[in-house]
Amino acid sequence: MTPRTAAAQVEVTVDGRPVLVRPGTSVAAALLEQGRWDFRVDPVSGRDRGPYCGMGVCLECEVTVDGRAHVRSCLERVRAGMRIDTAAGEDA
Ligand code: FES
Repeated sequence: MTPRTAAAQVEVTVDGRPVLVRPGTSVAAALLEQGRWDFRVDPVSGRDRGPYCGMGVCLECEVTVDGRAHVRSCLERVRAGMRIDTAAGEDA
C-alpha cells in the first residue's frame, strides 16, 4: 500500500481553492474527501445535490471541469492542475 504523502498527491483547484488529492481518484471522491456534498443545485427545489449512484447513471454529481459543464464527477479522474467548479462555488 502506498503511503498518503504530499509527494503521492496532485494539486487540483476546487472552487478556486488548491486541494491535494491522490492521482487517479475520481473527482467525486476528491470532493467527498473535502467534506463536500454540494456538487450542484437542484433547479426545482433549490437544494444541494451530490453523488447518488456512483456509476454515471443518476447525473446528481455533475460539476464543471476545466470549463466543461455537466461532467459526471463519479466517472472523471483527477489530473494535476485540474480545475473543478461546483454550483456552490458559483455563489462564492
Ligand atoms: S453519482 Fe450518479 S452519475 Fe455520478
